[in-house]
Amino acid sequence: MNAKHTVLVTGGAGYIGSHTCCQLLNAGYNVVIIDNFSNSSPDVLDAIMAISGKRPALVEADLRDADAVRVCFDQYPIDAVIHFAALKAVGESTAKPVEYYEHNLLCTTTLVKGMRGRGVKRLVYSSSATVYGMDNPAPFREDMPISAINPYGWTKVMTERMLTDLSASDPEWSITLLRYFNPLGAHPSGLIGDDPNGIPANLMPYVNKVAAGILPELPVFGDDYPTPDGTCIRDYIHVMDLAEGHLAALDYIYTHNGVEAVNLGTGVGYSVFDVVRAYERVSGRTIPYRVASRRPNNADAPKAYADPAKAARVFNWKTKRGLDDMCRDSWTFAKTRLIKSDA
Ligand code: UFG
Repeated sequence: MNAKHTVLVTGGAGYIGSHTCCQLLNAGYNVVIIDNFSNSSPDVLDAIMAISGKRPALVEADLRDADAVRVCFDQYPIDAVIHFAALKAVGESTAKPVEYYEHNLLCTTTLVKGMRGRGVKRLVYSSSATVYGMDNPAPFREDMPISAINPYGWTKVMTERMLTDLSASDPEWSITLLRYFNPLGAHPSGLIGDDPNGIPANLMPYVNKVAAGILPELPVFGDDYPTPDGTCIRDYIHVMDLAEGHLAALDYIYTHNGVEAVNLGTGVGYSVFDVVRAYERVSGRTIPYRVASRRPNNADAPKAYADPAKAARVFNWKTKRGLDDMCRDSWTFAKTRLIKSDA
């Protein structure tokens, strides 16, 4: 049991954060969430309570508020931090680069200074497979050179660099840089999941809204890529597997110092059409689609999937769930949240 450990989860009401909080509570950790609900809702805490039987402590604050961060560390005996909070919309980051750099970098520097002020030196950081850029061939390995093609991606690259430099400056820090591939799915209860505001930018929230009859058809961004069916290939990972990866990373930082970048992916790639077909199979719904142009600026790599060997070796962790599980649980969430009176 980990009852003695208190973990601060920034962005704990968000998509990946909320699933991770449920698993932390189930594993016996005390959980403190700091969130400003800029892209989530306080209702998520009720859902976490319904799933885990425990309510995490909440500090409603913006991470850029150094006083609020200080108070948070004064108030709770935090000994490790999982840092999810960030702006994450790739398209928006291109339109508002200054806001993205300011927000994502300032959140992390304020947090880290708050941690250092209280001698808390264990950090699990949400990075992204986006740091592999466009020039590396899949499967992506952690020792490949990193870069980015949009401001969001650069904030991840820069933060990885900053945390690596921090670790070099003070070897007592213990940091994991988790490079997520494409999270899909939801908690099997359907109580929490990926529910962005407005027209979704990502594949599965869009498919969910088409299945729910809220949007008419899925635009498939290009079917002329050099892949077997012409659509892009991604490494989709169930958000429950991803959350388990965070617990494995946490175990690791309680026993190791230094910094490690680790992929959290399955190592298996699926095309957009593979996802649509699997979703139709498990939901029984038809997903109308139309082939649209590629995303602007050729922003999609044709193939992006992980080499998951390092996570298996270092964290003793690997994924357990497959594409059908991801689609089924996404559909359960859509039924629960999007079409309340139907299905
Ligand atoms: N796609 C469509 N139609 C849509 C939405 C997506 O065809 O309406 C396609 C995309 O072109 C891509 C695939 O579905 O081929 C997956 O797209 P997502 O937007 O779901 O995911 P991305 O791989 O583009 O981006 C995700 C995260 C980013 C992260 C990136 C790299 O959203 O934050 O993975 O890890 F940077």
